[in-house]
Amino acid sequence: AFNLRNRHFLKELDFTAQEFRFLVDLAAQLKAAKYAGTEQPRLRGRSIALIFEKTSTRTRCAFEVAAHDQGATTTYLDASGSQIGHKESIKDTARVLGRMFDGIEYRGHGQEVVEELAAYAGVPVWNGLTDEWHPTQMLADVLTVREHTAKPLTEVALAYLGDARSNMGNSLLVTGALLGMDIRIVAPRALWPAEEVLKAAEGLAATSGARITLTEDVDAGVAGADFLYTDVWVSMGEPKEVWAERIELLRPYQVSMDTVRATGNPAVKFLHCLPAFHDLGTVVGRQMYEATGMAELECTDELFESAHSVVFDQAENRLHTIKAVLVATLGA
Ligand code: CP
Ligand code: NVA
Repeated sequence: AFNLRNRHFLKELDFTAQEFRFLVDLAAQLKAAKYAGTEQPRLRGRSIALIFEKTSTRTRCAFEVAAHDQGATTTYLDASGSQIGHKESIKDTARVLGRMFDGIEYRGHGQEVVEELAAYAGVPVWNGLTDEWHPTQMLADVLTVREHTAKPLTEVALAYLGDARSNMGNSLLVTGALLGMDIRIVAPRALWPAEEVLKAAEGLAATSGARITLTEDVDAGVAGADFLYTDVWVSMGEPKEVWAERIELLRPYQVSMDTVRATGNPAVKFLHCLPAFHDLGTVVGRQMYEATGMAELECTDELFESAHSVVFDQAENRLHTIKAVLVATLGA
């Protein structure tokens, strides 16, 4: 087995394919044990800090429930209710929290912030999303892919449509490359991952055998895909001013039943890290509608609610995979 004790979980590039697969396997075991009622708490007496400088539903709840299931306690800190960011530096925060907690989750803006936290905390730090990477999401996505295909990962084709110059675009490209998948970025060129991310992915693909495609052509990009994946067109922290341009760029990349048909694969599955804009059921959704006239953005409600969609399995898997990270890095 792999010993990941005391390791940080900051970005996918810090892990070997074997280590990444080990975490997904551990998550599958923990999921089965929870369902069977045989879960053994391996984090008794542990204390975990959860720092969220951006909002969250899944990631926060997954950390809290995972910690609780395993016998650990959590403390939630946000930008408004703590000194972090405005009154106290990350370096000082790291050294304080490192004296009190056994591990620290951080969600925020720049990757350099979570890296600095990790450099000074003296305890494992886990990236709960930055502008650049969303590594815990990747574990859940790979577990979900595994559960919804009989193929080995090296034969799975996953097409990501939408804003790929983002945490999700970066993370999916690098994770697909790490694990040897057929990974396609289907997006306007202006929203492809940055050159250094592509270089890193190509480096990994040289060993893993991954096939990497970046294309602006939806039909070519999704042909034969086993999974279609999309994310919001405007990420947390981006200003409202980008909406209009972003929506114009991405309008042809909306994932719908037409996209499903274009895969030629009637069994294709639909993934989304969530939250999603597929109807007018949210405040931001209504604002978007008023600004753009579009009631559905990155995916249609029809597809979201269809039998192709496995987005809630994916959301549940955030729990089991985050639990695997906690157990692997802190567990007895
Ligand atoms: N997918 C995801 O990270 O969801 P939250 O923003 O709700 O944590
Ligand atoms: N790209 C999205 C992902 C949310 C889980 C964001 O950063 O807002």
